[in-house]
Amino acid sequence: MDMKELLYEGKAKELYETDDPDTLWVKYKNQATAGNGAKKETIEGKGKLNNQITSLLFEKLKEKGIPSHFIKQLSETEQLIQKVEMFPLEVVVRNVAAGSFSRRLGVEEGKELSFPVLEFYLKKDELNDPIINEDHVKELALAAEGEVVKIKNQALEINQVLLKLFKEMNIRLVDFKLEFGKTSDGSIVLADEISPDTCRLWDLDTNDRLDKDVFRKDLGDIIPLYQEVLTRLNQL
Ligand code: C5P
Repeated sequence: MDMKELLYEGKAKELYETDDPDTLWVKYKNQATAGNGAKKETIEGKGKLNNQITSLLFEKLKEKGIPSHFIKQLSETEQLIQKVEMFPLEVVVRNVAAGSFSRRLGVEEGKELSFPVLEFYLKKDELNDPIINEDHVKELALAAEGEVVKIKNQALEINQVLLKLFKEMNIRLVDFKLEFGKTSDGSIVLADEISPDTCRLWDLDTNDRLDKDVFRKDLGDIIPLYQEVLTRLNQL
């Protein structure tokens, strides 16, 4: 498989065409951003950690029957993925109150939620990715009604698998963000990444943060934390 032209460059990844029209080549970058790009830094080693963590998690999800765009890891910073049509949605699943949920609703950070709370955000940088509801998804034709049902069910199923997995790693899965895409045959699959950039991961014993909040809040170096997540994942 050969890498061809750059198709898209996001904040954390570059996507390249390949000689197969259904396959893309992903390169994870070392760039870290927060606040929709307001804070931006190059952090040596972040790309390879997120690529390895995402690859391992997508493989584990596949073993549990959860389909994704992931084909295989190519190198420390690269993956092959299936080309899918992305839904312009961010799907957040929350098990514990934190972040914007706590700020918006005045719920104490760390409070266990009585059920997994699911939220949709419109993926649009110019609007700062606003939170939206299912009527907004329908009115803006972001996904068909049947697709929304499938996306919600998959997100909740992924949460169950990840909760168990992170518990085995002695990590509390507080919340995370998912993205979904549609394959050429119309099936809906998990896409993008699952990494400490897109999850809140707290050590079960110490409550230490093992995720991007440490960068967002200027609390220290994220590399040893992301490395710790990868090490624990490799020990499973
Ligand atoms: O900031 P907020 O509390 O809404 O974030 C919820 C979860 O979604 C966090 O785990 C965060 O890392 C993730 N997220 C993300 N990308 C965004 C917004 C949130 O990965 N653009």
